Amino acid sequence: MEIVLISDGPLPLESPVRKLPFFFSCRLIDMSSVTPRIVGDARVAVIELQGTTDAGLRALRGAWESISSIPVLCIVTKSNRQENIQAAALGKTVVIDREISLALLLDRIKKLAGAATSIPVDEGVPKQSAQAFRKCNAFLESICLSAVQNSKIHTAEMRTGAMELFSALQIDGLSDWLKAVHSHHSATYRHSLTVAGYAGAFAEHLGWSEADCQEVIAGGLIHDIGKMRIPLTILDKAEKLTDKERAAVKRHPDFARDILKARLEVPIEIKKMAIQHHEYLDGSGYPNGLKADRISTKVRLITVCDIYVALTEDRAYRPGLSSRDAIVTLKDMSTKLDQGLVLEFGRMLLNRDLGDVSRKSSAA
Ligand SMILES: [Fe+2]
Ligand SMILES: [Fe+2]
Repeated sequence: MEIVLISDGPLPLESPVRKLPFFFSCRLIDMSSVTPRIVGDARVAVIELQGTTDAGLRALRGAWESISSIPVLCIVTKSNRQENIQAAALGKTVVIDREISLALLLDRIKKLAGAATSIPVDEGVPKQSAQAFRKCNAFLESICLSAVQNSKIHTAEMRTGAMELFSALQIDGLSDWLKAVHSHHSATYRHSLTVAGYAGAFAEHLGWSEADCQEVIAGGLIHDIGKMRIPLTILDKAEKLTDKERAAVKRHPDFARDILKARLEVPIEIKKMAIQHHEYLDGSGYPNGLKADRISTKVRLITVCDIYVALTEDRAYRPGLSSRDAIVTLKDMSTKLDQGLVLEFGRMLLNRDLGDVSRKSSAA
């Protein structure tokens, strides 16, 4: 399901609308550019009225037939008279106070859409992988809410997702899992789902117990929870990040600590995977410059999988590395990473046939 987000200029920093792309496939449209062609077959329109000018409102009213056949929500500040008048001037809309909790806003949108809102899975993805994808995605959506609202982490959903993904890896294999993940609209979720798949497959390759495999799968799902506090304008930016934006992204392990510190329901080892996965064995990582003796094997495993996945992902400004080149890069990181794990990770990819588990194979 797709929704269109309409605002007069960039979305305000504190707008609840900014979090919607974590949950739905969204398109941001400037108020002055709304046309039937641009709105397309979107199921819901959400209008952010903060900062709307008279010219913006006139343009939107002029193009109202573009969205009049779908449910329209207006986000307003309850105490702001002008925004309420603007919402009334637009006519048939559902007016929502911007102080609404994200959970309630999602609920309203889903009800208004009146359609199946679960993320579609590509045809050809086997049953178990599709089932695991839905469960893991439900968990990612719930941790996004927990991160934004400082609420309980649903560890039962976490365990179910990890269990289903473990079964999918055993029944269908990693490449089918990657096919399932490929269909997700959010790059941030795709990344976490991919890391979780590699982590589970790698732990299994190492002969770890089922419980340990499922723990690193859960760790893979949760490892970038801190990113839920970073603006999507930075996370989803198509161009290369500026130094300032890169510094903002580097704060995500600190945000993870902040989100998880009071969450007694989350096992300590899983918390460590979220807080320490950018630490390096030689002490040159962040946020705390921990050295090898303070970094557990499970955290090291997540770090290797995380870097490998990041290197092989396509970015708008550069194509992903081939599997082979990514392994070379991991080896070149020398004392920063557990090279015993890197060696085994490379072996796993070779054993499973490079072309099968990786989305790219090295032509050279
Ligand atoms: Fe990270
Ligand atoms: Fe990551």
